[in-house]
Amino acid sequence: MAIERTLAIIKPDAVAAGHIGEIISMIEQAGLRILAMKMKRLSRREAEEFYAVHRAKPFYSSLVAFMTEGPVVLLALEGDNAIQRWREVMGKTNPAEAAEGTIRRRFGTNIERNAVHGSDSPETASFEVPFFFPTAELL
Ligand code: CMP
Repeated sequence: MAIERTLAIIKPDAVAAGHIGEIISMIEQAGLRILAMKMKRLSRREAEEFYAVHRAKPFYSSLVAFMTEGPVVLLALEGDNAIQRWREVMGKTNPAEAAEGTIRRRFGTNIERNAVHGSDSPETASFEVPFFFPTAELL
C-alpha cells in the first residue's frame, strides 16, 4: 500500500465542545502518524481560498462563516493509505449518515457542523497539506 499524506482539520464546533483530545486519540489509534499540528483561527481569506472548490455551492458563505467562528486544529497526517483511512475514521460528511463510532457520528451536529475535515483524494491532499504546512514544518 502507498504511504500517503493527508490534511485533517478539527473544526471550530469540535474545538469549542472540548473534543480535541478524543479526536487526536482516534487519529493515533488508527495508526496515522502526526507530521505537524497547529491551532489557529482561520482568516476569512484563508477559509475562502481553502474551500474555493465549493465557491459556487449554496452553502459556501455559511461554511466560510462557520470555519472562521473560532479556532481550528490543523494536522498533517501520514500513513499507509492515509487519505482513505482518515476518511473512514471521520465517517460520512453528514453525521446522520455516518457509521456508528466515527468522529462525525459521535461529535458532528449537522452536514455543515461536522467536527472534522479530511482531504478527499491525492490531488486534494497535495493542495491542502502545503496550504497550511510548508515542507520544513513536516517532521
Ligand atoms: P468538509 O469535508 O470540510 O468539506 C466541505 C464542507 O462543506 C463539509 O465538510 C461541510 O462542513 C460543508 N458541507 C458540505 N455539504 C454541505 C451542505 N449540503 N450543506 C451545508 N454544508 C455542507
